[in-house]
Amino acid sequence: MSLLELDDVKVHFPVKRGVFFDRTVGHVYAVDGVSLSVEAGQTYGLVGESGCGKTTLGRAVLRLVDITSGGVVFDGTDLAALPGEEMRRARRRLQMVFQDPLGSLDPRQNIESILTEGMTAHGIGADAGERRKRILDILAKVGLPANALSRYPHEFSGGQRQRIGIARALVLEPDVIICDEPVSALDVSIQAQVLNLLEELQESMGLTYLVIAHDLAVVRHISDVIGVMYLGSLVEEAPSDLLYAEPRHPYTRALMSAVPVPDPVVEDGRERILLTGDLPSPADPPTGCRFHTRCPWKQETLCATERPALRDVGDGHRVACHYAAEIADGTITRAAGEASPASTPETSPV
Ligand SMILES: Nc1ncnc2c1ncn2[C@@H]1O[C@H](COP(=O)(O)OP(=O)(O)OP(=O)(O)O)[C@@H](O)[C@H]1O
Ligand code: SF4
Ligand SMILES: [Mg+2]
Repeated sequence: MSLLELDDVKVHFPVKRGVFFDRTVGHVYAVDGVSLSVEAGQTYGLVGESGCGKTTLGRAVLRLVDITSGGVVFDGTDLAALPGEEMRRARRRLQMVFQDPLGSLDPRQNIESILTEGMTAHGIGADAGERRKRILDILAKVGLPANALSRYPHEFSGGQRQRIGIARALVLEPDVIICDEPVSALDVSIQAQVLNLLEELQESMGLTYLVIAHDLAVVRHISDVIGVMYLGSLVEEAPSDLLYAEPRHPYTRALMSAVPVPDPVVEDGRERILLTGDLPSPADPPTGCRFHTRCPWKQETLCATERPALRDVGDGHRVACHYAAEIADGTITRAAGEASPASTPETSPV
Protein backbone atom coordinates (compact mmCIF):
# COMPACT_ATOMS: atom_id res chain seq x y z
CA MET A 1 0.00 0.00 0.00
CA SER A 2 1.19 3.52 -0.82
CA LEU A 3 1.87 5.99 1.98
CA LEU A 4 -0.72 8.43 0.64
CA GLU A 5 -3.68 7.43 -1.51
CA LEU A 6 -6.34 9.74 -2.87
CA ASP A 7 -9.48 8.06 -4.09
CA ASP A 8 -11.84 10.08 -6.30
CA VAL A 9 -11.39 13.23 -4.21
CA LYS A 10 -13.83 16.03 -4.96
CA VAL A 11 -13.87 19.55 -3.57
CA HIS A 12 -16.84 21.59 -4.78
CA PHE A 13 -17.14 25.08 -3.34
CA PRO A 14 -20.73 26.33 -3.14
CA VAL A 15 -21.44 29.64 -4.86
CA LYS A 16 -23.87 31.55 -2.63
CA ARG A 17 -26.13 34.43 -3.44
CA GLY A 18 -28.92 36.28 -1.68
CA VAL A 19 -29.51 39.33 0.50
CA PHE A 20 -31.20 37.77 3.53
CA PHE A 21 -30.68 34.06 3.00
CA ASP A 22 -27.61 32.57 1.40
CA ARG A 23 -28.84 30.48 -1.47
CA THR A 24 -26.51 28.04 -3.21
CA VAL A 25 -26.76 28.93 -6.87
CA GLY A 26 -23.99 26.70 -8.18
CA HIS A 27 -20.61 25.18 -7.43
CA VAL A 28 -16.99 25.74 -8.29
CA TYR A 29 -15.76 22.27 -9.22
CA ALA A 30 -12.22 23.03 -8.05
CA VAL A 31 -11.24 19.37 -7.62
CA ASP A 32 -13.47 16.94 -9.40
CA GLY A 33 -12.46 13.33 -8.94
CA VAL A 34 -8.73 12.91 -8.41
CA SER A 35 -7.24 9.52 -7.62
CA LEU A 36 -3.50 9.18 -7.14
CA SER A 37 -0.94 7.45 -4.95
CA VAL A 38 2.30 8.71 -3.47
CA GLU A 39 4.87 6.11 -2.50
CA ALA A 40 6.93 6.46 0.69
CA GLY A 41 10.20 8.29 0.11
CA GLN A 42 9.17 9.42 -3.37
CA THR A 43 8.13 12.70 -4.95
CA TYR A 44 4.88 13.14 -6.82
CA GLY A 45 4.86 16.25 -9.00
CA LEU A 46 1.49 17.81 -9.73
CA VAL A 47 1.39 20.31 -12.61
CA GLY A 48 -1.26 22.31 -14.38
CA GLU A 49 -2.11 25.87 -15.25
CA SER A 50 -3.34 28.46 -12.79
CA GLY A 51 -6.77 27.75 -11.35
CA CYS A 52 -6.86 24.03 -12.23
CA GLY A 53 -7.21 23.05 -8.56
CA LYS A 54 -3.67 22.15 -7.43
CA THR A 55 -3.66 24.13 -4.19
CA THR A 56 -7.19 23.04 -3.36
CA LEU A 57 -6.14 19.41 -3.78
CA GLY A 58 -3.15 19.93 -1.48
CA ARG A 59 -5.32 21.62 1.10
CA ALA A 60 -7.90 18.85 0.83
CA VAL A 61 -5.28 16.26 1.81
CA LEU A 62 -4.73 18.18 5.07
CA ARG A 63 -8.47 18.88 5.34
CA LEU A 64 -7.80 22.61 5.32
CA VAL A 65 -10.81 22.70 2.99
CA ASP A 66 -13.87 20.48 3.28
CA ILE A 67 -13.74 17.39 1.09
CA THR A 68 -17.03 17.01 -0.78
CA SER A 69 -16.48 13.30 -1.34
CA GLY A 70 -13.74 10.74 -1.77
CA GLY A 71 -11.05 9.23 0.42
CA VAL A 72 -7.62 10.40 1.53
CA VAL A 73 -5.84 7.42 3.03
CA PHE A 74 -2.59 8.19 4.79
CA ASP A 75 -0.59 5.30 6.22
CA GLY A 76 -3.73 3.17 6.28
CA THR A 77 -6.03 5.75 7.89
CA ASP A 78 -8.77 7.58 5.99
CA LEU A 79 -8.17 11.21 6.90
CA ALA A 80 -11.43 12.28 5.27
CA ALA A 81 -13.31 10.39 8.00
CA LEU A 82 -11.19 11.41 11.02
CA PRO A 83 -12.84 13.43 13.80
CA GLY A 84 -11.39 16.93 14.37
CA GLU A 85 -8.96 16.23 17.21
CA GLU A 86 -7.54 13.12 15.57
CA MET A 87 -7.14 15.03 12.31
CA ARG A 88 -5.29 17.77 14.16
CA ARG A 89 -2.86 15.17 15.54
CA ALA A 90 -2.47 13.56 12.11
CA ARG A 91 -1.47 16.93 10.64
CA ARG A 92 1.88 16.77 12.40
CA ARG A 93 2.85 13.96 10.05
CA LEU A 94 1.56 15.79 6.96
CA GLN A 95 2.86 19.28 6.55
CA MET A 96 2.40 21.92 3.89
CA VAL A 97 4.83 24.52 2.63
CA PHE A 98 2.54 27.25 1.36
CA GLN A 99 2.46 28.91 -2.04
CA ASP A 100 3.11 32.43 -0.75
CA PRO A 101 6.16 32.35 1.56
CA LEU A 102 5.64 35.85 2.98
CA GLY A 103 1.87 35.69 3.34
CA SER A 104 2.06 32.40 5.22
CA LEU A 105 4.44 33.73 7.91
CA ASP A 106 3.00 35.97 10.63
CA PRO A 107 4.87 39.30 10.27
CA ARG A 108 4.57 40.02 14.03
CA GLN A 109 6.27 36.82 15.16
CA ASN A 110 10.01 36.28 15.08
CA ILE A 111 11.35 33.09 13.54
CA GLU A 112 11.83 31.30 16.86
CA SER A 113 8.23 32.00 17.78
CA ILE A 114 6.99 30.85 14.35
CA LEU A 115 8.94 27.62 14.56
CA THR A 116 8.06 26.93 18.20
CA GLU A 117 4.32 27.38 17.74
CA GLY A 118 3.66 24.06 16.01
CA MET A 119 6.05 22.16 18.27
CA THR A 120 4.23 23.36 21.38
CA ALA A 121 0.83 22.58 19.84
CA HIS A 122 1.93 19.03 19.05
CA GLY A 123 3.87 18.49 22.30
CA ILE A 124 7.26 18.13 20.63
CA GLY A 125 10.28 18.71 22.92
CA ALA A 126 10.27 18.31 26.69
CA ASP A 127 11.07 21.98 27.41
CA ALA A 128 12.02 25.26 25.77
CA GLY A 129 15.72 24.31 25.75
CA GLU A 130 15.09 21.08 23.89
CA ARG A 131 12.83 22.81 21.39
CA ARG A 132 15.43 25.47 20.73
CA LYS A 133 18.08 22.82 20.18
CA ARG A 134 15.87 21.10 17.63
CA ILE A 135 15.08 24.39 15.88
CA LEU A 136 18.78 25.26 15.60
CA ASP A 137 19.47 21.85 14.17
CA ILE A 138 16.75 22.30 11.53
CA LEU A 139 17.84 25.86 10.72
CA ALA A 140 21.32 24.52 9.96
CA LYS A 141 19.79 21.80 7.78
CA VAL A 142 17.88 24.34 5.67
CA GLY A 143 20.90 26.65 5.43
CA LEU A 144 19.83 29.50 7.73
CA PRO A 145 22.09 31.08 10.37
CA ALA A 146 21.37 30.67 14.09
CA ASN A 147 20.84 34.43 14.44
CA ALA A 148 17.73 34.06 12.25
CA LEU A 149 15.84 33.11 15.42
CA SER A 150 15.38 36.63 16.69
CA ARG A 151 14.59 38.15 13.30
CA TYR A 152 11.24 38.74 11.57
CA PRO A 153 9.98 37.41 8.21
CA HIS A 154 10.32 40.73 6.36
CA GLU A 155 14.05 40.77 7.14
CA PHE A 156 14.68 37.80 4.86
CA SER A 157 14.92 37.34 1.10
CA GLY A 158 12.34 35.30 -0.82
CA GLY A 159 14.60 32.25 -0.93
CA GLN A 160 15.31 32.49 2.81
CA ARG A 161 11.61 32.84 3.59
CA GLN A 162 10.94 29.68 1.65
CA ARG A 163 13.63 27.99 3.77
CA ILE A 164 11.80 29.22 6.89
CA GLY A 165 8.57 27.68 5.56
CA ILE A 166 10.41 24.40 5.00
CA ALA A 167 11.95 24.60 8.50
CA ARG A 168 8.51 25.18 10.02
CA ALA A 169 7.34 21.94 8.43
CA LEU A 170 10.49 20.01 9.38
CA VAL A 171 10.51 20.81 13.11
CA LEU A 172 7.34 18.74 13.39
CA GLU A 173 9.12 15.65 12.02
CA PRO A 174 6.59 15.01 9.26
CA ASP A 175 6.45 12.01 6.93
CA VAL A 176 4.87 13.88 4.03
CA ILE A 177 5.41 17.48 2.93
CA ILE A 178 3.08 19.09 0.40
CA CYS A 179 5.16 21.79 -1.26
CA ASP A 180 2.83 24.23 -3.02
CA GLU A 181 4.75 26.10 -5.72
CA PRO A 182 7.94 25.94 -3.63
CA VAL A 183 10.00 28.04 -6.04
CA SER A 184 7.62 29.99 -8.25
CA ALA A 185 8.03 33.19 -6.22
CA LEU A 186 11.83 32.97 -6.44
CA ASP A 187 14.45 34.17 -8.92
CA VAL A 188 15.56 31.48 -11.34
CA SER A 189 19.05 31.46 -9.78
CA ILE A 190 17.58 30.70 -6.34
CA GLN A 191 15.05 28.13 -7.60
CA ALA A 192 17.69 25.43 -8.14
CA GLN A 193 19.09 25.97 -4.63
CA VAL A 194 15.71 25.42 -2.99
CA LEU A 195 14.93 22.39 -5.18
CA ASN A 196 18.34 20.90 -4.35
CA LEU A 197 17.69 21.53 -0.66
CA LEU A 198 14.36 19.69 -0.89
CA GLU A 199 16.11 16.74 -2.54
CA GLU A 200 18.88 16.63 0.08
CA LEU A 201 16.34 16.76 2.91
CA GLN A 202 14.32 14.00 1.31
CA GLU A 203 17.36 11.78 1.21
CA SER A 204 18.64 12.51 4.70
CA MET A 205 15.25 12.51 6.45
CA GLY A 206 13.33 9.96 4.36
CA LEU A 207 10.61 12.43 3.40
CA THR A 208 7.76 11.92 0.96
CA TYR A 209 6.75 14.90 -1.19
CA LEU A 210 3.77 16.08 -3.14
CA VAL A 211 5.22 18.98 -5.12
CA ILE A 212 2.79 21.34 -6.80
CA ALA A 213 3.93 23.60 -9.66
CA HIS A 214 2.57 25.28 -12.76
CA ASP A 215 5.88 24.80 -14.51
CA LEU A 216 6.81 21.39 -15.92
CA ALA A 217 10.51 22.26 -15.80
CA VAL A 218 10.33 22.68 -12.01
CA VAL A 219 8.94 19.25 -11.24
CA ARG A 220 10.85 17.33 -13.86
CA HIS A 221 14.06 16.62 -11.98
CA ILE A 222 12.71 16.13 -8.51
CA SER A 223 9.66 13.99 -9.31
CA ASP A 224 9.47 10.23 -9.53
CA VAL A 225 5.93 10.42 -10.87
CA ILE A 226 4.18 13.38 -12.48
CA GLY A 227 0.45 14.02 -12.67
CA VAL A 228 -0.93 16.64 -15.08
CA MET A 229 -4.10 18.36 -13.91
CA TYR A 230 -6.64 20.16 -16.05
CA LEU A 231 -9.78 21.79 -14.70
CA GLY A 232 -10.06 19.79 -11.51
CA SER A 233 -8.90 16.37 -12.62
CA LEU A 234 -5.87 14.42 -13.74
CA VAL A 235 -5.53 14.03 -17.50
CA GLU A 236 -2.26 12.12 -17.46
CA GLU A 237 0.10 10.49 -15.00
CA ALA A 238 3.36 8.65 -15.58
CA PRO A 239 6.83 8.08 -14.16
CA SER A 240 8.69 11.34 -14.78
CA ASP A 241 11.01 10.14 -17.57
CA LEU A 242 8.21 8.38 -19.41
CA LEU A 243 5.97 11.43 -19.31
CA TYR A 244 8.69 13.55 -20.88
CA ALA A 245 9.66 10.92 -23.44
CA GLU A 246 6.13 10.05 -24.49
CA PRO A 247 3.45 12.51 -23.46
CA ARG A 248 0.17 10.92 -24.52
CA HIS A 249 -2.56 13.40 -23.62
CA PRO A 250 -3.10 16.35 -25.99
CA TYR A 251 -2.92 18.80 -23.09
CA THR A 252 0.41 17.40 -21.87
CA ARG A 253 1.72 17.47 -25.44
CA ALA A 254 0.83 21.14 -25.68
CA LEU A 255 2.49 21.92 -22.35
CA MET A 256 5.56 19.97 -23.34
CA SER A 257 5.85 21.65 -26.73
CA ALA A 258 6.15 25.00 -24.96
CA VAL A 259 9.14 23.93 -22.84
CA PRO A 260 12.33 25.12 -24.63
CA VAL A 261 14.88 22.49 -25.64
CA PRO A 262 18.56 23.40 -25.00
CA ASP A 263 19.73 22.05 -28.40
CA PRO A 264 19.18 24.92 -30.92
CA VAL A 265 18.85 22.56 -33.92
CA VAL A 266 16.14 20.53 -32.20
CA GLU A 267 14.54 23.73 -30.88
CA ASP A 268 14.32 25.31 -34.35
CA GLY A 269 12.91 22.24 -36.00
CA ARG A 270 10.25 21.24 -33.56
CA GLU A 271 6.59 22.06 -33.75
CA ARG A 272 4.65 23.90 -31.11
CA ILE A 273 1.11 23.02 -30.27
CA LEU A 274 -0.89 26.14 -29.64
CA LEU A 275 -3.92 25.99 -27.43
CA THR A 276 -6.71 28.27 -28.46
CA GLY A 277 -9.17 29.77 -26.01
CA ASP A 278 -8.94 30.38 -22.29
CA LEU A 279 -9.18 27.87 -19.49
CA PRO A 280 -12.94 27.37 -18.99
CA SER A 281 -14.41 28.32 -15.63
CA PRO A 282 -14.43 25.53 -13.04
CA ALA A 283 -17.91 26.83 -12.09
CA ASP A 284 -19.17 25.84 -15.55
CA PRO A 285 -16.90 23.09 -16.87
CA PRO A 286 -17.39 21.79 -20.43
CA THR A 287 -19.34 18.58 -20.93
CA GLY A 288 -17.60 15.36 -21.92
CA CYS A 289 -13.84 15.68 -22.01
CA ARG A 290 -13.12 18.90 -20.17
CA PHE A 291 -10.35 19.66 -22.61
CA HIS A 292 -12.50 19.40 -25.74
CA THR A 293 -13.01 23.16 -26.07
CA ARG A 294 -9.26 23.59 -26.62
CA CYS A 295 -8.12 20.24 -27.95
CA PRO A 296 -6.48 20.27 -31.40
CA TRP A 297 -7.30 16.54 -31.80
CA LYS A 298 -10.98 16.83 -30.83
CA GLN A 299 -13.26 14.32 -32.60
CA GLU A 300 -16.94 14.59 -33.50
CA THR A 301 -17.91 11.61 -31.41
CA LEU A 302 -17.38 11.11 -27.66
CA CYS A 303 -15.17 14.16 -26.97
CA ALA A 304 -17.99 16.58 -26.19
CA THR A 305 -20.33 14.04 -24.66
CA GLU A 306 -18.44 11.46 -22.60
CA ARG A 307 -15.92 12.18 -19.91
CA PRO A 308 -12.87 9.96 -20.48
CA ALA A 309 -11.62 7.98 -17.49
CA LEU A 310 -7.95 7.89 -16.56
CA ARG A 311 -6.94 4.57 -18.12
CA ASP A 312 -3.74 2.61 -17.70
CA VAL A 313 -1.96 2.32 -21.04
CA GLY A 314 0.97 0.28 -19.66
CA ASP A 315 4.19 0.90 -17.70
CA GLY A 316 2.36 2.92 -15.05
CA HIS A 317 1.20 5.44 -17.66
CA ARG A 318 -2.40 6.65 -17.21
CA VAL A 319 -4.18 8.84 -19.76
CA ALA A 320 -7.68 10.33 -19.82
CA CYS A 321 -8.33 10.65 -23.55
CA HIS A 322 -10.75 8.63 -25.70
CA TYR A 323 -8.32 8.74 -28.58
CA ALA A 324 -4.91 8.43 -26.89
CA ALA A 325 -4.01 5.27 -28.87
CA GLU A 326 -5.07 6.70 -32.26
CA ILE A 327 -3.24 9.97 -31.59
CA ALA A 328 -0.09 8.06 -30.60
CA ASP A 329 -0.07 5.87 -33.74
CA GLY A 330 -0.98 8.75 -36.04
CA THR A 331 -4.42 7.44 -37.11
CA ILE A 332 -5.86 10.70 -35.84
CA THR A 333 -4.03 13.91 -36.68
CA ARG A 334 -4.29 17.41 -35.40
CA ALA A 335 -6.77 19.81 -36.95
CA ALA A 336 -5.14 22.01 -39.60
CA GLY A 337 -3.87 25.38 -38.42
CA GLU A 338 -3.11 24.26 -34.87
CA ALA A 339 0.64 23.86 -35.38
CA SER A 340 3.12 26.68 -35.53
CA PRO A 341 6.86 26.87 -36.08
CA ALA A 342 8.89 27.27 -32.91
CA SER A 343 9.82 30.85 -33.79
CA THR A 344 6.23 32.11 -33.71
CA PRO A 345 5.75 34.35 -30.68
CA GLU A 346 3.37 32.83 -28.26
CA THR A 347 2.64 32.59 -24.61
CA SER A 348 3.24 29.36 -22.81
CA PRO A 349 0.03 27.61 -21.78
CA VAL A 350 1.42 27.24 -18.28
N1 LIG B 1 -12.39 28.89 -0.87
C1 LIG B 1 -12.78 28.94 -2.14
N2 LIG B 1 -14.06 29.24 -2.47
C2 LIG B 1 -14.47 29.27 -3.76
N3 LIG B 1 -13.66 28.99 -4.81
C3 LIG B 1 -12.38 28.68 -4.55
C4 LIG B 1 -11.86 28.64 -3.21
N4 LIG B 1 -10.54 28.30 -3.26
C5 LIG B 1 -10.25 28.14 -4.59
N5 LIG B 1 -11.35 28.37 -5.35
C6 LIG B 1 -11.43 28.27 -6.81
O1 LIG B 1 -11.08 26.95 -7.16
C7 LIG B 1 -10.31 26.94 -8.36
C8 LIG B 1 -9.00 26.24 -8.12
O2 LIG B 1 -8.19 27.08 -7.30
P1 LIG B 1 -6.73 26.65 -6.81
O3 LIG B 1 -6.21 27.75 -5.96
O4 LIG B 1 -6.80 25.30 -6.21
O5 LIG B 1 -5.93 26.58 -8.18
P2 LIG B 1 -4.37 26.41 -8.44
O6 LIG B 1 -4.23 25.33 -9.47
O7 LIG B 1 -3.64 26.24 -7.17
O8 LIG B 1 -3.98 27.80 -9.13
P3 LIG B 1 -2.63 28.67 -9.01
O9 LIG B 1 -1.63 27.99 -9.95
O10 LIG B 1 -3.02 30.01 -9.50
O11 LIG B 1 -2.17 28.66 -7.59
C9 LIG B 1 -10.18 28.39 -8.80
O12 LIG B 1 -11.19 28.67 -9.73
C10 LIG B 1 -10.41 29.16 -7.51
O13 LIG B 1 -10.95 30.42 -7.79
S1 SF4 C 1 -10.91 12.94 -25.42
FE1 SF4 C 1 -11.06 14.14 -27.30
S2 SF4 C 1 -11.07 16.29 -26.67
FE2 SF4 C 1 -10.35 15.06 -24.94
S3 SF4 C 1 -8.16 15.09 -25.12
FE3 SF4 C 1 -8.84 13.24 -26.17
S4 SF4 C 1 -9.10 13.86 -28.31
FE4 SF4 C 1 -8.96 15.73 -27.10
MG1 LIG D 1 -2.19 27.30 -6.21
